[in-house]
Amino acid sequence: MPSFDSAQARKKSIFPIMTSRFLVLSFVCLALTACSGEEADTHAGQPVTKRKLVFKEILRTFEPMGLTVRGRAAYDKQQFLEQAAALEALTNKPWQYFTPDSNYSPTRAKPDIWQKPEEFKQAQQKFIKASEQLTQSAKGDNLEAIRKSYDAVEESCKSCHHDFRGPKR
Ligand code: HEC
Repeated sequence: MPSFDSAQARKKSIFPIMTSRFLVLSFVCLALTACSGEEADTHAGQPVTKRKLVFKEILRTFEPMGLTVRGRAAYDKQQFLEQAAALEALTNKPWQYFTPDSNYSPTRAKPDIWQKPEEFKQAQQKFIKASEQLTQSAKGDNLEAIRKSYDAVEESCKSCHHDFRGPKR
């Protein structure tokens, strides 16, 4: 047991506790900033918040299929088909929230979305078609074909993000 008689011992015994408390507190603050750092979406209809929620849902639906096609999760035909169908059902959901007045912080949408509406529409169509094709492939059980279709969907996400998603504003 350390002796509490000398200042040295006090330093030794108390300091680590303070340090760890300080660290815990900093983490809590960081976590809070991460949540509340985003300004509240006070815009009518909250289009930025709504489209982000849909994209998060898209990611949540898309990722488990990625584990399967990469061989990191077991392939279950029925389950995969349901996941593909769930993704397909989401592919037409985000676009309604890109309203003319919805280019506000903290969005990552590039102004090109509003300046090149035809190209943005084409990027949506590419994604929608790729997702339909994934469902079609998932009706069979050729994992190689499924993987190709999955990759095409992923490519459609990436190319749209490349063209139409920028840094946070
Ligand atoms: C046609 C264009 C387009 C396609 C296709 C697309 N995205 Fe996005 N995505 C965007 C844009 C634009 C944003 C930025 C939205 C904002 O910040 O207002 C975004 C944002 C996101 C976000 C961040 C949401 C947040 O909370 O900020 C995720 C995750 C995401 N997309 C996943 C995907 C996945 C996964 C796919 C494909 C399966 C996909 N997206 C397909 C355009 C697209």
